[in-house]
Amino acid sequence: MTILFDEQQQFFHLSNSTMSYIIGIEKEKYITHLYFGQRLESYHKVNQLPYIDRGFATNPINEERNFSLNALPLETSTQGSLDFRISNYQFRNNTGGRVTNFIYDHYEILDEKPTLSGLPSVRGENEQTQTLEIYLVDHQQQLEMVLRYTIYETLDILTRSVEYRNHGTQAIYLENAGSMMLDFPRSDYDFITLYGAHTNEANIARQPLHPGIQKIESVRGTSSPQHQPFLALADSQATEDSGVVYGFHLIYSGNFVAQAEVEQYGSTRVQLGINPETFEWKLEASTAFQSPEAVLNFSNRGFNQLSQNFHTLYQTHLVPTQWSQTERPILLNSWEGNYFDFTQETIIQQATLAKELGIELFVLDDGWFGERNDDTTSLGDWSVDKNKLPDGIDHLATTIQEMGLQFGLWFEPEMISEKSDLYKKHPEWSLQVSGYPQTQGRQQLVLDLSRRDVQDYLIQVFDTYLSSGKITYIKWDMNRHLTEVGSFGLAHDQQKEVSHRYVLGLYRILATVTTRYPQVLFENCSSGGGRFDPGMMAYMPQTWTSDNSDAICRSKIQYGYSLLYPPVMLGAHISEVPNHQIGRETPLETRFLIAMSGNFGYELSLERQTKEDLAAIKEQIAFYKTHRKLIQFGSFYRLKPFDEQASTAWLFVNDTDALLIYSHGLARPAQTVEYLKTTYLDEEALYKETQTGNIYSGSELNHAGLLIPRIKGDFKGFSLHFTKLS
Ligand code: GLA
Repeated sequence: MTILFDEQQQFFHLSNSTMSYIIGIEKEKYITHLYFGQRLESYHKVNQLPYIDRGFATNPINEERNFSLNALPLETSTQGSLDFRISNYQFRNNTGGRVTNFIYDHYEILDEKPTLSGLPSVRGENEQTQTLEIYLVDHQQQLEMVLRYTIYETLDILTRSVEYRNHGTQAIYLENAGSMMLDFPRSDYDFITLYGAHTNEANIARQPLHPGIQKIESVRGTSSPQHQPFLALADSQATEDSGVVYGFHLIYSGNFVAQAEVEQYGSTRVQLGINPETFEWKLEASTAFQSPEAVLNFSNRGFNQLSQNFHTLYQTHLVPTQWSQTERPILLNSWEGNYFDFTQETIIQQATLAKELGIELFVLDDGWFGERNDDTTSLGDWSVDKNKLPDGIDHLATTIQEMGLQFGLWFEPEMISEKSDLYKKHPEWSLQVSGYPQTQGRQQLVLDLSRRDVQDYLIQVFDTYLSSGKITYIKWDMNRHLTEVGSFGLAHDQQKEVSHRYVLGLYRILATVTTRYPQVLFENCSSGGGRFDPGMMAYMPQTWTSDNSDAICRSKIQYGYSLLYPPVMLGAHISEVPNHQIGRETPLETRFLIAMSGNFGYELSLERQTKEDLAAIKEQIAFYKTHRKLIQFGSFYRLKPFDEQASTAWLFVNDTDALLIYSHGLARPAQTVEYLKTTYLDEEALYKETQTGNIYSGSELNHAGLLIPRIKGDFKGFSLHFTKLS
């Protein structure tokens, strides 16, 4: 891995063993994008950028009519002048002026990856990294922009962010503070995003780029289940196993924008960052603003390789280090089995049965605090409901621990119910705009996390519950989006900062609590995958993937999320049939196949299960424990696309084992004969299938494939486990 600067030809070449990224300096002033893709052994800038006298072009040098920034591939936009494409930043000064003129000043190369102030980012530790800092200056207003690029030695990953600095004597307003931008010379790519809704997250959208802007965004205050802060550009022929794919992912949990613009001459601009629609920042003199970090991922072996790059990066360089390789417990969550209806006695009974079956963690979900018998009250009043739990949480946790189970608890810390003592005491602590009613969602309001006093209050709530060490798991929920985004704690000209300050406040709480209690496993949740993004993953290594626990819907949702996140990050539970969200009945075996393909648990009433089902559950748990390491930390590959009949197949592989999961979906007539190619087994090795004892060569399974048995009936599936023999 190196970052080279060619003094004579004025370009930077960032490269590792598979990837190159090249940045030029044009006319000693302007930063251009020259190349991103497969590694180039060396670069000689043979292809000069085309200087063409274009109609409607504007020219920074009057006499040079063939030199226009609007027609060159850039690494950052210009503002109010010269470049008319999507912009990556925007300043406004106190005279209303919105023009700047940033030009190249100098560069620095660091042998490390700096952290970002107040924001989560991927780490550079245990890996060689180098960082290029390009300094651009606007001399008129004494502004500075630092473009940061980090390249990893062994990962086909580059990270980018921008720091905006005000060296002047007056405050200036930052209206847009994008994280990255670059111009590809072509536009014959497919544009890929993940979209969805509550209970229907992470659908893959793929369509060819077309002239104009294709954009996804959130203005909901969180990254949202509607769109993941991610886009990819892929060769139109790219498949799971082949073709070039570029992935861009923003490490941010609030309002974002991710967009691609195909412009008049057929090039494509990609831009990601905080959504400027709900953002502004008063940049005081002598202060700086740090943008969130964007991850740039390059694969020349299709989507599975893209996923491998993301999975490795997030698992080893993003989630808290102590969870990176730590096996996760099999849990029983109380929600779908009880909802709000439980007592100390029933919980202890359930935990006793869970222990007998081999479950390792009991999670008490919503309903344990205040007067919370439905979802209309008590958020904010984090003291135990003595009617349900007369001896308190500590006692319950101790009792459950003494049984040999861990104990976990649900919180929705960012919320406040109008019917709560906290609201009576601190109405000013909720987000609001003077003179306008506060809109409720799920009959709750949102706490103003931009306020330091609110942040401190929440940190203290967690101190109360976690300092005894009895609670080893927290489910951190967040079940509505932000409205009336205003704060009583900020000046008038800073009200547009609230959305971003909310996210910064959240990160401060999370950083404090997760550092103070490193042994506690935090699970991220926002009605399922409503705020499933790399920003949250920096603090919480797993997410409740979706409130939809139907196995067939889940196989699609988990399939979509697996593009970006490894299975260990995807909370997946076996729930009752008929399924509570959509009413479908699926066999217990299929529910197991899909749930065990994630971070496995149960969410049903064990007492209501038949004896046979309980016996099967006991076996499932034993099976999962045997293969947990492979599933949680092996490599995960999608073997076929999710099809209309909802059939899918995927594979877990490590150095010694492989596990194939096949889910058949709907029964169909005149079934075709299917040979499923495993593609990712060791070509040189022999594999023994555990149940039949059949021996296969890796190359045979990879290329000739495995004959899929005929399956009758809807929603059936199977798994096959292979041991590597040599
Ligand atoms: C959200 C979560 C669920 C459950 C409920 C409790 O919907 O996603 O898993 O915790 O809240 O109210």
